[in-house]
Amino acid sequence: MRVTGDIAELRTLIKEYKQAGKKVSFVPTMGALHRGHLSLIRLAKQHSDVVVVSIYVNPKQFAPNEDFATYPSSLEQDINFCKEEGVSLVFTPNTEVMYHQELFFSLDIRELNTHLDGASRIGYFQGIALVVNKLFNIVEPDIAVFGQKDYQQFKVIEAMVREFNHGLSLLMAPIERDHDGLALSSRNAYLSEEERAKAPMLYQALQKAKGAIEQGMKNTTPLLEELQEELRLAGFQNDYFGVYSIDRLQPVKQIEENTDYVLAIAAYLGKARLIDNIILSK
Ligand code: PAJ
Repeated sequence: MRVTGDIAELRTLIKEYKQAGKKVSFVPTMGALHRGHLSLIRLAKQHSDVVVVSIYVNPKQFAPNEDFATYPSSLEQDINFCKEEGVSLVFTPNTEVMYHQELFFSLDIRELNTHLDGASRIGYFQGIALVVNKLFNIVEPDIAVFGQKDYQQFKVIEAMVREFNHGLSLLMAPIERDHDGLALSSRNAYLSEEERAKAPMLYQALQKAKGAIEQGMKNTTPLLEELQEELRLAGFQNDYFGVYSIDRLQPVKQIEENTDYVLAIAAYLGKARLIDNIILSK
């Protein structure tokens, strides 16, 4: 396995893979790798000959009040995990490499950015689109893998790939969870023992809502409000909890038959911002 933070060196290695007829997949990450990230690498491996992983905490996707300065990092362990998973190349650029030049462009994201994390975290998806756009142009993979955990991120990148003709296929990996249902996240490291014990309530709320919808509930607003109140009393600070259209990510008031939705939730618990979702498919 090779590790490099240098764009020219990375490009040379990737050119060699491609000249040897290898199919190249790419898994972008911000490091602090956990089983969720590893499941993406495994999916990438199943669909390609060579897996490239990037590890870069992108400052452009953190608002000034967010946790850029304290974002968890475990580079040595991450590199060992990648080795164990059979990754061929790890790209570890620094900010000098990624953003050495003055920026004259920013990407404007329309409808997909109006709700969920796009509404709560100003500039978040613009920062993600910027760095993923750059990473795709640097790596030029045949396949890129993202997790359902960040469903809105997947939809934004899917639109970007389509509209800017990136010419690669995207794969979405299912959400990896802990034994008690909590979606794995690098930010779970911020939870105290007591908060960690409460954290699965988020997934439980999603499951209760899913159950009610499957039983035929059409107007979910009262139930979602009641579940949010339970979370608030348990110490969560709610951000959003709603049913959204599966492709355009717009809030849905009334559930209709034979239609797919995404049920999504976000809340703070102590210092950690937790997100989770379930896809409701007909
Ligand atoms: P990061 O939060 O490190 O996540 C990297 C990838 O792992 C994302 O595609 C995310 O959806 C996926 N992932 C995280 N937790 C997961 C889980 N429990 N189950 C399945 N997949 C999971 O997302 C980012 O980094 C950044 O925004 C990035 C795309 C790298 C751009 O900076």
